[in-house]
Amino acid sequence: MIPRSFIQQLVQRCDIEEIVSGYVLVKRAGRNLKALCPFHSEKTPSLVLYPDNQSFYCFGCGAGGDVISFIMRAENLDYPDAVRFLARRVGMEVPEEGDDSGAQLRARVLQLNREAALFFHKCLKTPAGREGYAYLHEKRGLPDKIITSYGLGYAPDSWNALGDYLLGKGFTQEELLAAALSAKGRKGGIYDQFRNRVMFPILDLRGNVIGFGGRVLDDSKPKYLNSPDTPVFKKSRNLFSLNFAKNAGKEQLILAEGYMDVIAIYAAGFRNVVATLGTALTGEQARLMSKYAREILIAYDSDGAGQAATHRAINLLSEAGLTAKVIHMEGAKDPDEYIKKFGPTRFQLLLEGASDVIAHELAGIRARCDLETSEGRIEYLKSAVNVLADIRSPLEREVYASDVAQVAGVTAEAVGGQVNALIRKRAKEREKKEWRDIELNKEASQDRINPQKRQNLKEAQAEEGILAFLMDHPDSYGYLLNRIRPEDFVTDFNRKVLEAMASLRREGEVSLSLLGQLLTPEELRGAAGILARHHDQTQTKELLDAYIDILLAHKDRLKPEAARAADPADIEAYRRRLRERK
Ligand code: UTP
Ligand code: MN
Repeated sequence: MIPRSFIQQLVQRCDIEEIVSGYVLVKRAGRNLKALCPFHSEKTPSLVLYPDNQSFYCFGCGAGGDVISFIMRAENLDYPDAVRFLARRVGMEVPEEGDDSGAQLRARVLQLNREAALFFHKCLKTPAGREGYAYLHEKRGLPDKIITSYGLGYAPDSWNALGDYLLGKGFTQEELLAAALSAKGRKGGIYDQFRNRVMFPILDLRGNVIGFGGRVLDDSKPKYLNSPDTPVFKKSRNLFSLNFAKNAGKEQLILAEGYMDVIAIYAAGFRNVVATLGTALTGEQARLMSKYAREILIAYDSDGAGQAATHRAINLLSEAGLTAKVIHMEGAKDPDEYIKKFGPTRFQLLLEGASDVIAHELAGIRARCDLETSEGRIEYLKSAVNVLADIRSPLEREVYASDVAQVAGVTAEAVGGQVNALIRKRAKEREKKEWRDIELNKEASQDRINPQKRQNLKEAQAEEGILAFLMDHPDSYGYLLNRIRPEDFVTDFNRKVLEAMASLRREGEVSLSLLGQLLTPEELRGAAGILARHHDQTQTKELLDAYIDILLAHKDRLKPEAARAADPADIEAYRRRLRERK
């Protein structure tokens, strides 16, 4: 648990307006601020920022919370990582407490990984590792210098060589399992995960060894074995060799498909090269690259799978604001083979000749269609118009449209007309879908957070009013708790928020950010929604009393004596409530 005082200081330094402005354009609207919500697609702003309590809420999709929740959503991080992310931004150090077992385990796993990497590396030069060294050095042609730079190694052909070595260094079985270097055997023991494989350590930007890839020495399967996600490793957030590439001082990064391609490209003198870690490119990785480069040269395999992956990568990269270009390799299946066959100079030419994405896609379509026939030309035009409609800049669109027209033997006007019609059609469909999604989402998300609200609308609204009042008037807790108790809240969700607020109040300040430590992100979203819906109402003591009266009246009605005199519908409602309570 990160100490409360730290969270308080952190959110004080992270102004919500400033943080959100890093993601979307924020405009002033009276006392509040408005923006297009980054969490769903929309054309009219429904994300509202409240500087006075440092919260945000989207009236469209129901996203809401404080700066920390915003970063969790925007950067796809869990709570502690979002806190670290913000702390780094404002130059604060997150206190990693001694009793924080998570942080302790992470530190141990990192030490263990480092020892394991050294063990694998040293093995290369022992008799047991001769085969591994021969594979890397002779078969794959890697010079000693490169083997050392990347810290490559060999996992011996043994069930326990690494395990025994690390246990001897004082690490425990649990730690070995947490690092995923060992697996649990059927009889309760552990055994080495990587056996008889050449090893590629994966480093983060600080130089920590966070995971491994291991390749077999022959054609057996699986060819590569990769560390799964562990407390220190998240595949979707890291890139192989980024620790070197980020220092290459280039505005471009080369994106390859795997370990050996990266190493071959690096060895050929291009240090600005990275690869994903045995999975397809993710949005997080694209955004990570955008911190170090403007342009990405995609150098995936020339086979069908590589080309399909190229297509997917292009979209993710452009969403991250990066320009993507594609390398056309002929005569080799991957960059490693290309460099071996044709040398670094030819590879350099390949990089320089990388074509922009539109030209790449249009060329792909052209290659698929038989332009000699009219069906072929129509097919070409249809697919090409689809690509053209994706281009944002009208000027660029026109240039490519006239190329396409020429290839298909029609006028540029005809192509332009088709493209514009498609753009309009897509915009209409998008608008419709946006509207439908919002309507669906609004109701579903409120029901999900407080499923009892529908049946107890009046009481639930009174509860929400009370919660909003308390947030603005922290001095009123005493008064409120004198008149009613948390048990008198009818809906479980609102009661939970009240109890969380009351427990914070007993120890000091109450704020949305501190609530974030006691509630789940979903619950915090609900709480932010309550505050947002009441934000611009004048809160008076009379209003608070009226809310309390509603809950007290409800409580009276639930009393058995009252039930006797009540009308049958109320009795049925009372029975239903009793059943629900069980
Ligand atoms: P490739 O099969 O293209 O291998 O996989 P490669 O990079 O050309 O490797 P060499 O030259 O045969 O040694 C590309 C990447 O896909 C992942 C790995 O990250 C690999 O580098 N992969 C591949 C796996 O994770 N598991 C596999 O079994 C195969
Ligand atoms: Mn290869």
